[in-house]
Amino acid sequence: MSTSALAGRTLPVVFNDRESESRTPANRLYRIPDVARDTFAPCPPAQSVRAGENDLTRLAPGRPRASGEAIAITGRILDEDLRPVRRTLVEVWNANTHGRYSHTRDAANDAPLDPNFYGFGRLLTDDDGRYVLRTIKPGAYIARQDIGWWRPPHVHFSVVGSGVRLVTQMYFPGEPLNEKDFIFMIVPEEERDRVIGRPAPDGTGDRGFEFDIVIRGRFQTPPDMD
Ligand SMILES: [Fe+2]
Repeated sequence: MSTSALAGRTLPVVFNDRESESRTPANRLYRIPDVARDTFAPCPPAQSVRAGENDLTRLAPGRPRASGEAIAITGRILDEDLRPVRRTLVEVWNANTHGRYSHTRDAANDAPLDPNFYGFGRLLTDDDGRYVLRTIKPGAYIARQDIGWWRPPHVHFSVVGSGVRLVTQMYFPGEPLNEKDFIFMIVPEEERDRVIGRPAPDGTGDRGFEFDIVIRGRFQTPPDMD
């Protein structure tokens, strides 16, 4: 080893990196038994999310309910080992019942806005990685007039947790437009069930769906290509 001057500082210069050979594991890697692992995935400290931000059916508690069918979506956020990702941020957005977003980029859409529907919400998962979301079932909308591409009803999800951000979307079961949707068609056939909500009564009288999201690994929920 010798030294050289760089920008007025004296820095060590390594000519030979054989040390890396001695740092290479000599033994085969092995999986830590599940019983010895944390029961949850570590994640950054919880952010501040107000109660009610998971309810898109009203602009605020006590305000009129938005038009359309109120639905509940529940599920768990899991990491690649299917451990719950606890107290992590989930952001959601969807079009209103007429198939229009409250967003400047959707200004050319002829479908009406709903003054009681903003279409964006967020929440934190609980200690079991579970979330509960209430929203209005979105309408279909035309994404490309030139090729007649209609997007089926869907809810967008962004999940930040365990060092990654995954953006994906939940489709609804039995929608005829699903099979014609170019984004849905990109998802390998054997993985399409992972982006369709499963009917799950929630006990409030509204239609309920269950939608688990795996944020990475070989069971990862297919990402949103929108
Ligand atoms: Fe969309």
